[in-house]
Amino acid sequence: MKHNRLVIISYRLPFSIKTQNRVTTIKPSAGGLVTAVKSLDLSASAEKPIWIGCADFTQRTWEKYRQEVGDEFEYVPVFLDKATNKGFYNGFANSVLWPLFHYFPSFVDYHDEYLTAYQAANQAVCQKVLELLKPGDLVWVHDYHFLALPQLIRESAPTATIGFFLHIPFPSNELLKLLPKRCRNYLLTGLLGADLIGFHTNDYMIHFLQSVQLTLGLPHTLARIQHQDRNVQCQAFPIGINYSLFYDAYDKPEVVREREELKKSYPGKIIFSVDRLDYTKGVMQRLDALEVFLQAHPEWKENLVFILVVVPSRDEIQTYWERKQMIEQAVGRINGKFATLTWVPIVYRYGSLAFPQLLALYTACDVAMITPLRDGMNLVAKEFIASRQDQRGVLLLSELTGAANELGEALQVNPLDEYEVADQLDRALTMPSEEQRRRISVMQKRISDYDVKQWAGDFFDALLVSQRGKEISHVR
Ligand code: F6P
Repeated sequence: MKHNRLVIISYRLPFSIKTQNRVTTIKPSAGGLVTAVKSLDLSASAEKPIWIGCADFTQRTWEKYRQEVGDEFEYVPVFLDKATNKGFYNGFANSVLWPLFHYFPSFVDYHDEYLTAYQAANQAVCQKVLELLKPGDLVWVHDYHFLALPQLIRESAPTATIGFFLHIPFPSNELLKLLPKRCRNYLLTGLLGADLIGFHTNDYMIHFLQSVQLTLGLPHTLARIQHQDRNVQCQAFPIGINYSLFYDAYDKPEVVREREELKKSYPGKIIFSVDRLDYTKGVMQRLDALEVFLQAHPEWKENLVFILVVVPSRDEIQTYWERKQMIEQAVGRINGKFATLTWVPIVYRYGSLAFPQLLALYTACDVAMITPLRDGMNLVAKEFIASRQDQRGVLLLSELTGAANELGEALQVNPLDEYEVADQLDRALTMPSEEQRRRISVMQKRISDYDVKQWAGDFFDALLVSQRGKEISHVR
């Protein structure tokens, strides 16, 4: 059956255009959202889907290079002025919502001007949506940058079908209450403009439903809220990964080559972690746990290495660049304390990894140590499991991630308890290979059954159901 056009809205477009030293490079982004949306079968759609996002390039650059970004979607960049983008992205999105929604209230740096910039950015994107919107379109808004957008669209297009997916946790109401009341009301009412609101887990969804009830006085039945003569359906859709991409990479020649190099360089056990530079990822606590471990287990000296990769992120924000300095000091201190003249316990890299390098590390390591203090989902955990065609290796996973709900066979830890993490690290390093195989195979089955294609398809189908439901009630 033919369905109508899809309109995606996310902060980032699925590519970036960067000009440095007069050289312009266009890079497609490889993030989970891009893979998810591209996996949808849009051939049933009557028209080319639209993707609206905020530009990280100028209008002139866009005019010059737009032909080169491909034509799978009609890409529509929104050009925010520098000050608005700063107050919106660095300010309200990443210095207010991000820390608050990840349970770091002391990192919240609230200013009314940030909220004003957030409102202006949501308004500017709404304007673009309204210029393009046609009756019957399916609008899919993504993430915490655009909590206000569903309602803004709804005000001018009351019959529009709007879905929203939150890629980060939704916190308990006790946390949300730290925001000024008018700000809380604005955000919650903004979201209620949607017909369908998706979360990674049931817990996040329950927090949202409770906040709506306690803040706006709107009750819910079976995760459905009645609001202004409309139904707003909430549901958990745990995002998955492109399973076969990771599984099949195991024996690609460039991955095999990189893996052999790694094994040659590090003949002992390898512990590996990779995260964006973010205080939510718990890198400092991970290093503390490693220090406790090395202290308690001198037998591992010269017999293991911890490869710690930190990918640069949001480096204009103080809490982020400060973190980099803290990590570097801790790595230096621990290496200074335990190194011998021929061995260092931590190999630290600040930078991104090419796909074959990442896969070589996933598949060469003995333990993947993924211990965020809070994470909406954490796809690294799923990618590690998927990549282990050999069914070897142990996942040491924080119980404070969304992924922990689906990965019960991982060794789960409280990332703040460095003694528990150190104990479990020892258990991981000595786990018999048969037990590794048993645990990994169950997790592989689960994440291959619910991969990113399934995730996007389920959300899309639920959005279609909302649309049909509205059409039927309209006919009645
Ligand atoms: O997890 C939320 C998220 O916005 C992802 O969608 C994104 O990949 C990540 O954080 C990185 O954020 P940024 O777009 O700020 O670099």
